[in-house]
Parts: sequence; structure tokens; C-alpha cells
Amino acid sequence: MARLDFPKDFVWGTATASYQIEGAANEGGRGPSIWDTFSRTPGKVVNGDTGDVACDSYHRYEEDIALLKKLGVKAYRFSIAWPRILPQGTGEVNQEGLDYYGRVIDKLIEAGIEPCVTLYHWDLPQALQDQGGWGVRSTIDAFVRYAEIVFQAFGGKVKQWITFNETWCISFLSNYLGIHAPGHRDLQLAMTVAHHCLVAHGRTVRKFREMGVKGEIGTTHNLAWCEPYTDSPEDVAAAQRTRGWNNEWFMDPTLKGTYPQFLVDWFKSKGAEAPIQPGDMETIAQKIDFIGINFYTGNYGRYRKDFGDFDYEEVQVGFDRTDIGWNVYPESLFKALKWVHDTYGEIPIYITENGACYNDGPSPDGKIHDEKRIDYYRMHFTQCHRAIASGVPLKGYFAWSLLDNFEWAEGYAMRFGIVYTNYETLTRTPKDSYYFIQKVIAESGLDV
Ligand code: FCB
Repeated sequence: MARLDFPKDFVWGTATASYQIEGAANEGGRGPSIWDTFSRTPGKVVNGDTGDVACDSYHRYEEDIALLKKLGVKAYRFSIAWPRILPQGTGEVNQEGLDYYGRVIDKLIEAGIEPCVTLYHWDLPQALQDQGGWGVRSTIDAFVRYAEIVFQAFGGKVKQWITFNETWCISFLSNYLGIHAPGHRDLQLAMTVAHHCLVAHGRTVRKFREMGVKGEIGTTHNLAWCEPYTDSPEDVAAAQRTRGWNNEWFMDPTLKGTYPQFLVDWFKSKGAEAPIQPGDMETIAQKIDFIGINFYTGNYGRYRKDFGDFDYEEVQVGFDRTDIGWNVYPESLFKALKWVHDTYGEIPIYITENGACYNDGPSPDGKIHDEKRIDYYRMHFTQCHRAIASGVPLKGYFAWSLLDNFEWAEGYAMRFGIVYTNYETLTRTPKDSYYFIQKVIAESGLDV
């Protein structure tokens, strides 16, 4: 058995997002978001589930914070719902919305937990979508104003700010693959959305600095790890394209101020390009304090002509899969972290999400014995440790998720929580994985 100790100042945390946990969709002056619209559209979400009630954290946040405190985390990542602050996206500020997050933030601080706030975790006010959403530049102005209002209200209390959660999902998954809200299938639109979100990120960072807000600011990209099935140049190039679509397309502008040329060319051959205006690339590449990485899985694949968008066909080489069907490939986390460090230098890295979907429910003893989730965490913590030991500036890790919640297009069918949510009674029951993580945090390490 090997003992793996983490640095004493390593930030352990858990993560959630507003639409996935809050519920109270029509309370507190909240305006509708694109996820209200999308989840009500037949066929878009499994079982027709919506976030109307979700985990009811809008009313039960004190219980959630008590669970966090008992877990021993140093930080909690959650998101602010733009439509609670500005129900129409622009215009009047809804004080009730600000008050709600003020209570959450104060309770966290009282519990000794650092708030880590995501400004945009996908719930765009529907009123803005009606005017073109992230497909039009005016949404950038609206976002920066929203951010400014939130900075004014909570600047100084919040330790870490994340502008956007997973720009790949906001753009390609939602506007090209049509799987998430608003559900479009248009490559040029997705490229435009990606670019506008990146510019909005840069302008928000600039605003943050101008306002002299205390705290750190960064953004979160979701990385995918694709490896070539063989070392043939065709397989290598196909894997590089697919990986680049998820990784470099977002990481390069954010940290280098350029789009990767091999993909610019590839997208051009499909008739799509980023609508870059003068000054945009400098804006996007504002210096940030950390980069957030969401990471779940990796795969192997090979070149196959005219297959998918990148002539890349995944080959199942024998990974176990979680209940949502994602490969369990812990070493890909280490490889991705190494790649970030080797490519982008010494910028501090936080894993802002990592976790596994296993749908275990209570056993006859009333407990939730989610052994596979424990294995997943143990193996991924090991890869984090290995990365730190190899010199990667990994500063913290947020487990996705504190509790089972509304898993977007999968509705309530897929459970990622370390706390079980009973959706009938809304009671929360810590799973065995919760106690496993509690011990890791308390000891600042684990035996493997
Ligand atoms: C990520 C999302 C998060 C959650 C996990 C499972 O893509 O950021 O909200 O749904 O996947």
C-alpha cells in the first residue's frame, strides 16, 4: 500500500450549478431561462423532467451547507442564475435574487467555506435568447453588465470567480449537436457562440480588474482526452482534431490569444469560422489567475473517412463505463493535466469538476453503498497526486457533485452526487463516497 499525501493548502471542494439544484423556478422574481423552455419542449429531456423543483436548494441551502461543513471542504463551487438577478437579462435588477445569493454566501463564510462562484452555468435568460442569445454580440454587453452587478454585490466576499462553465458545451453541444438548450444544429452558429462567450469572458475579466475586485478570476473549460488507436499519421491527426475541438479551440484563445490554425483550416473547409472583430483576441486573452478544468473521461479512436465531424471513430479498447456510458480512464486525467502544464505553462490549475455517474440507491440498511464511485474517486485522486508530484501546478479539486441533481438532457435519471437525493421527499442522504471523501480531506491524503 502506498500513502499519497496532498499539499496542506490543497483546496478540496464540491460543485453544483443553479438550474441543476435550486428549483423554485417561479419564485423570488426569477425570469425564465433557456433551460425552462428547453426542458418543456417534448423529447428534449429524458422523462420530460424539468428543473422546476430539482433539489429545492433555493429553500434548503442551509441543509446543503451543513452537509458541506460536515464533509470538511474548504470551498464550494456553485453558480448564480442570471435570470434571478436580471429576469429579462437586461434592465431592472431583481433585489430578491441578489438577497438569495447573499444569504448563501454569508452562510458559507460563516461555515468557514470559501465561495467559488460561476457566473454562467448555462441558464441564459430566455428574453436574451429571443433576441439571438449568444449568437449576437449584444449578449456580450448584457453579460458584462450582469457580471458587474454581481461583482458589486459580492466582490470581496467571494474568493474565486469563474466566468463561464464549459464553453464547448455552451457552443457546440447546444448549438451544433442540439443536445442542450437552445438545441440548434448549426455549425456556424456554434462557432459564433463560442467566440462571443470567449469575448464576454475577456471583457468580464477586464471589468473585474478595472473595478479592483478582491479575489481571483478564471474560466472553466471541459477537456476531452482522445488518443490515436495506432501511431499512423491518419489516426494521430484524427485524434488531434477531435481533442483540439474540445481543448485547444478554447484553451488557446484563453491562454495564448490565438485559435489553433489546423482547426481554423478544418472548420473553413466546412464553411464555418469565428467572427473575429479587431481587438477580440487581445480581449479574450486577458490575464487570468487560474484555469478551471472539468474532466470526466477519455477514449481511443482511429481515422475513418467522412465519419462524424473529424473523421474520427472511437474504438472501445476495454474501459469500464459509468452508468451514463462514459469510459473510466483515470490516467487520461493525468495526461490532460500534464498537457495543460506543458502547453500553457505555470498557470494555476483547478479541477472544477470531476466525478462519476452511478445510479445506486439505498440498500435495505438505508445506506448507499456506491463502491464504484469510491473507486472512481480513488483512482482520479491518485492521478491528481501524480500530476502534483510531477510538477503540475494543480491547486484544488471540486467533486461533481455535492448531491444528485438535474442532469440536463438526462433529467433525474443520472446521479452524480456523493449525497443521495430522494426526489419524492427531497431528503438528502450522504452516500459511502461522501464518507470516503470526508476521510481524504481530513487526512489530506489517502492510501492506495
Ligand atoms: C458537466 C456539467 C455539469 C454536470 C456534469 C456531469 O458537463 O458542467 O453541470 O452536468 O457535466
